[in-house]
Amino acid sequence: MELAIILAAGEGTRMKSAKSKVLHKIAGRSLLGHVLHACDQLTPKRCVVVIGAHSSEVKEHLAQVAPKSATVLQSQRNGTGHAVRIALDSDHAKSITSGDVIVLAGDTPLLTGETLARLRKHHQSNGASATVLTAQLFDPHGYGRIVRDGEGHLEKIVEESDCTPSEREIDEINSGVYIFKVDQLRRALAKITSANAQNEEYLTDAIKVLRESGEKVSAFTVDDESEILGINDRSQLALCSALMRDRINDALMREGVSIVDPATTWIDLSVEIAPDVTILPGTTLLGSTIIETGAEIGPRTTLIDSEVGQNAKVFESFVRGAVIGYNAQVGPYTFLREGSELATGVRVGAYVEVKNSSIGEGSKVPHLSYVGDATIGRESNIGAATVFVNYDGVEKHRSEVGDHVRIGSDTMLVAPVTIGDGAYTAAGSVITEDVPAGAMGVARSKQRNVLGWVMRRRATTASAKAATKAQSKKSTSKKQKSTKSPSKKTAVKKVLAKKTAVKKAAVKKKSVKVKKSKRKG
Ligand code: UD1
Ligand code: CA
Repeated sequence: MELAIILAAGEGTRMKSAKSKVLHKIAGRSLLGHVLHACDQLTPKRCVVVIGAHSSEVKEHLAQVAPKSATVLQSQRNGTGHAVRIALDSDHAKSITSGDVIVLAGDTPLLTGETLARLRKHHQSNGASATVLTAQLFDPHGYGRIVRDGEGHLEKIVEESDCTPSEREIDEINSGVYIFKVDQLRRALAKITSANAQNEEYLTDAIKVLRESGEKVSAFTVDDESEILGINDRSQLALCSALMRDRINDALMREGVSIVDPATTWIDLSVEIAPDVTILPGTTLLGSTIIETGAEIGPRTTLIDSEVGQNAKVFESFVRGAVIGYNAQVGPYTFLREGSELATGVRVGAYVEVKNSSIGEGSKVPHLSYVGDATIGRESNIGAATVFVNYDGVEKHRSEVGDHVRIGSDTMLVAPVTIGDGAYTAAGSVITEDVPAGAMGVARSKQRNVLGWVMRRRATTASAKAATKAQSKKSTSKKQKSTKSPSKKTAVKKVLAKKTAVKKAAVKKKSVKVKKSKRKG
């Protein structure tokens, strides 16, 4: 294939969009990108894209996705024949005098490289000067019709606006994809006029011209007519998106990925998923996301440009630009942002946000926390509602937490701050200074109870009533204790006292005896 020409100069008026129609996306790739991708499989030596409306925007996009392609500006839309002619006459193509050229439109994203390869095979094995890709449609409305002769050979293509009533009944249509011999196409285009209902140079007229000059023209019909769907409005964009989604999901399932609900699972073409990954309903996987085997994603989870390691689980979460390690668990309701790196076995739980931070092997941030610009070591636990206070209103600062650290609930770690290995912080502390290894950082005021405050200052409230009741209960139970019959304890005391009294008395007696005997002696 010497050359590919992609027509993309159209206004795309029905999209009602500020941006070019061919730059709208399906499965993470622009419509034009899809066409280029399919076309690539024929490895054309050169590729020329005809641009018009939104030309600078389209050019910029092409520089990113297909830097080797060239563009030709069609400043006036004089029809598809005119567009191809200026492409062939441009500096990028004028030296090409033999071989084949494929012509496509920039708004048919479902066309596959396999179909184009079969079209080429058909074209070459028939020795045709032109081959048209056609489709049999239930509703051919709006398309150019394929007119065949008595023997079933392609005769011409008639635009709907130029159709006779009987031609209008034909349900075989022109997809707008063709392969031509370059030299024959040049000759044919030179003979085309704009004497038709739309006053345009129709590329489709090249078929009639070639056939009339004795050249062989051929038609090849697609198996799956959805492949040739073109996009003109937002409904067609949504329809093609859904068809592409099914195509992507089917391919993944064939490769061993479990997708529980393909209808609610949206995966970009660029995403890589290993076999034995399970994807639960309502999940969206975008960009450069990579998921390793055994991982479980969803339900209702979005992953953008992120990596998920083997056997990791991500539930009901939103993740962008993060790396989730082997066996890690994320969610439900977790927000992982750019630069979050979770090592093996890390757990990050409900209502936790992590940004630009690394969390070491086996560490946990289970509940209601913000971890921003931090490095956390291994096997540490970050208590509920901890905040890494990383922003002083002007600049962001980093914090370091060592291995086996226990951050008490509701700790504010005011960055920059370092918590040493094995250190603790007391719940509710505002930590502004480093805590050395093994130390307990306490940074909170001592508790003081103002007794009876509620009864005095909130006397009429239910709280005061409850407190008064609790107090009176306490005092009556004290009184009851004091009026009760002597307790066991007091009984024992009495017995003991008696015993000592007896002993004392005995000692006294003895000493008296001794005294007496002394006197005797
Ligand atoms: C064209 C075909 C029709 C076919 C249909 C398939 C012609 C005359 N008709 O009709 O047989 O069934 O496609 O979708 O070719 N473009 C330019 N410059 C122009 C005109 C068009 O770049 O001057 C581009 C458009 O941006 C579009 C493509 O060519 O990408 C097709 O043009 P469009 O106006 O959509 O042609 P249709 O009338 O749909
Ligand atoms: Ca069209």
